[in-house]
Amino acid sequence: DWTSEQFIDSTVAELKAQLGNDKVVLGLSGGVDSSVAAMLIHQAIGKNLYCIFVDNGLLRKDEFETVLDSYKHMGLNVKGVDAKDKFYSALAGLTDPEQKRKAIGRVFIEVFDDEAHQIEDVKWLAQGTIYPDVIESVSVKGPSATIKSHHNVGGLPDFMKLKVVEPLKTLFKDEVRLVGKALHIDDIIIGRHPFPGPGLAIRILGDITPEKVHVLQQVDHIFISNLKKSGLYDEVWQAGAILTPVQSVGVMGDERTYENVVALRAVTSVDGMTADWSRLPYEFLADVSNEIINKVKGVNRVVYDISSKPPATIEWE
Ligand code: XMP
Repeated sequence: DWTSEQFIDSTVAELKAQLGNDKVVLGLSGGVDSSVAAMLIHQAIGKNLYCIFVDNGLLRKDEFETVLDSYKHMGLNVKGVDAKDKFYSALAGLTDPEQKRKAIGRVFIEVFDDEAHQIEDVKWLAQGTIYPDVIESVSVKGPSATIKSHHNVGGLPDFMKLKVVEPLKTLFKDEVRLVGKALHIDDIIIGRHPFPGPGLAIRILGDITPEKVHVLQQVDHIFISNLKKSGLYDEVWQAGAILTPVQSVGVMGDERTYENVVALRAVTSVDGMTADWSRLPYEFLADVSNEIINKVKGVNRVVYDISSKPPATIEWE
């Protein structure tokens, strides 16, 4: 039977044989997958692994700083790159979900490529691709049109000319977590919900502005920190908030307001391929809704998404 210890031993041995003294570059996302991939490769080749963590301006509140810190504590050779403005300019005016993904993917590759070129003689690109990513990107290419192009999978541009190493390609998410635990990766990274590569850009319906990102970060932070506080975070597979372009009428004191609607989404799932909406307690939802409306300027209504996948998807875009 499969055990994480065996997986680690055999994978580290294979990586040592495969990579030798070569230099490897890896893009960290703050998520479980890229972090576990990094720690595995780090065990095999140490400082020859060069990690790059890009701030695309679409991460959760304070995420970049917090996660960069824990990577450094884990002993990884990691460089943080602030590229927020590049992403915001590329996204300006784009409203179509797939166009947003493409723009983000393109800028990410540009930024990443710039950084990779600064590593002398780098030979390999490491990726945290896991088994469900492989399956979903195959189905994206099917005749039934695009589902969602997961930009972090597969094709790298010719100009990078790097060989690809993907040590987690055969694993499911729960197995990745077990491997991460066995590698003593920080709990704030291992236990975290999946978060999409395009980040908050696909949770802001319509065009992206830094102001909207700021609003959504505050909403998301209230939702997620309450989930953690009430012990519900680990019961849920993924959770987040969506900023809709819908405005609705509200009342604040004796003033009429006309502000945005946000949706909260929390799902249970095994691997993200199918999902059900989480039956979060009404009292919990009431508290989160009140806190959001009282604290976040620009939001006067909160709704809860009760759709399952299929036919809905987890993300709204
Ligand atoms: P959907 O919305 O397709 O999401 O039900 C399934 C899982 O995939 C994540 N997701 C993405 N991850 N790039 C990513 O890296 C993407 O473009 C993307 N779109 C969706 C989503 O967060 C969920 O975990």
